[in-house]
Amino acid sequence: MKGVFDKDHVVSIRDFTVDEINTVLDYAEKMVPIVKGDKISREMEGKILATLFFEPSTRTMLSFQAAMQRLGGSCIGFANPKQSSVKKGETLADTLTVTSSYADIVVLRHPQEGAARLASKFSSKPVINAGDGAGQHPTQTLLDLFTIRDEMGNISNNHIGIAGDLKYGRTVHSLTNALAMYDTELTFIAPPGLQMPDEIIKKLKKDGIEYHKADDMEAVIDDLDVLYLTRIQRERFPTEEEYEKVASIYNVNRNMLENVKEDMIVMHPLPRVDEISPDVDDTKHAKYFEQAANGVPTRMAIMSLLLETYKEAME
Ligand code: CP
Repeated sequence: MKGVFDKDHVVSIRDFTVDEINTVLDYAEKMVPIVKGDKISREMEGKILATLFFEPSTRTMLSFQAAMQRLGGSCIGFANPKQSSVKKGETLADTLTVTSSYADIVVLRHPQEGAARLASKFSSKPVINAGDGAGQHPTQTLLDLFTIRDEMGNISNNHIGIAGDLKYGRTVHSLTNALAMYDTELTFIAPPGLQMPDEIIKKLKKDGIEYHKADDMEAVIDDLDVLYLTRIQRERFPTEEEYEKVASIYNVNRNMLENVKEDMIVMHPLPRVDEISPDVDDTKHAKYFEQAANGVPTRMAIMSLLLETYKEAME
């Protein structure tokens, strides 16, 4: 598999080719029986994962830790930087120099865009970006793509609506970059002030990708194959007043799904606030909890490919 996945770090989905993405997704499928307990793997025995989370997380941190432990490895790290020496003024560079000497792979979440790229320069081991400010969240994108492929049969030939905070949302930035590598139709659903950044739109235009913009969810929902909702990210708004203007703008409920396509799926990277009513959860369209669960096999695959332990798993 080396050659198809030739990476030292996972910082941005833009660093991936479509072949590399497909390699991760194919390999994640092989990890599913291990997650279900139908197969045992010890391919990471003796390996240590360091999770350095400078921002809160439930899914990303715990699914990385579960992924490492499912493969026989172990984990160290912090979820509260106030309990680390960062509180004493230690730089990110020094934090990475030291923690990468304790571990075989480092997963970093940080509020500053570009932090993972910087960290990769000081780390002696592979760094995985678990979210850098409003920048990128590449492993979320890989599990999103895994979910779309698993649920729809393929990624191409789908009309995908991406809704919510498209300005600050790193998950939708990474996802749009990746979907542009496939043959998809994209609709960006957001109020004008929260639309997709110009830089991403320019790239879509350059690549000849079909896209539309909308702000009325109900006007477009029935045409979609996939609706990908995101939270309005309170923590990234300059003021509370700016946030209040757009908070709760989208709330998908069961009634809104009455005329959608039979096999349309609703996704969300979670956590949700009020973008999806709980009455959607038991409809056939709701796939966001499966999506969250897919984080484990996908992250197993990413670590296995980065550390090249996959050879043993394939035997
Ligand atoms: N989707 C996601 O990144 O969730 P967490 O913030 O809980 O990790």
